[in-house]
Amino acid sequence: MHKDCERILLTEEQLKTRVREVAEAVDRRYQGKIPLVVGILKGGIIFYADFVRHLTVPAELDFMAVSSYGSGTVSSGKLKIKKDLDRDVKGRDVIVVEDIIDSGFTLANLKALLLERGAKSVCIVTLLDKESRRTYDIRPDFNCFAIEDEFVVGYGLDYNERYRNLPYIGILKREVYGG
Ligand code: IMP
Ligand code: MG
Repeated sequence: MHKDCERILLTEEQLKTRVREVAEAVDRRYQGKIPLVVGILKGGIIFYADFVRHLTVPAELDFMAVSSYGSGTVSSGKLKIKKDLDRDVKGRDVIVVEDIIDSGFTLANLKALLLERGAKSVCIVTLLDKESRRTYDIRPDFNCFAIEDEFVVGYGLDYNERYRNLPYIGILKREVYGG
């Protein structure tokens, strides 16, 4: 285990098993459709890469980078798009794949934006859900693990751009982020 982690919350094996299970459930729901699977950079990428490999439907892949800067204090703040989709979402069944839902700011705004652009449907798939932190009225349609309010890193999740490449999800030591 990395020295900056207090303990491992989810092992590689747990992640592998549960991601497969959730991806298969999503796949069943999209039979007969051609979903546009949108990965949210950068935190969602490792989860995304594992998730899409279990889909059997003819999925199209695309990416977006968004910033939730100011989400804690600005309640009416709009989502900042740092990299937009290549594809038009009009009339599409969109599946958004994200690492974690915390306050819900990012996904609530992103879902509203995609619907505003004419998406036929928007399904939210998350790896982690910190339910107790929610302040926006949004719930993932599929979630892999509900977790407590602790700062986690690894499997795509970062602290200051570090730890994303850890193959497991660990709880970061408080002394590292000064919490
Ligand atoms: P929300 O907009 O408040 O739902 O926050 C979602 C974003 O906060 C995620 O995309 C992450 O970038 C970040 N985030 C929230 N909790 C954690 C954590 O425990 N570790 C790493 N990033 C986190
Ligand atoms: Mg993120």
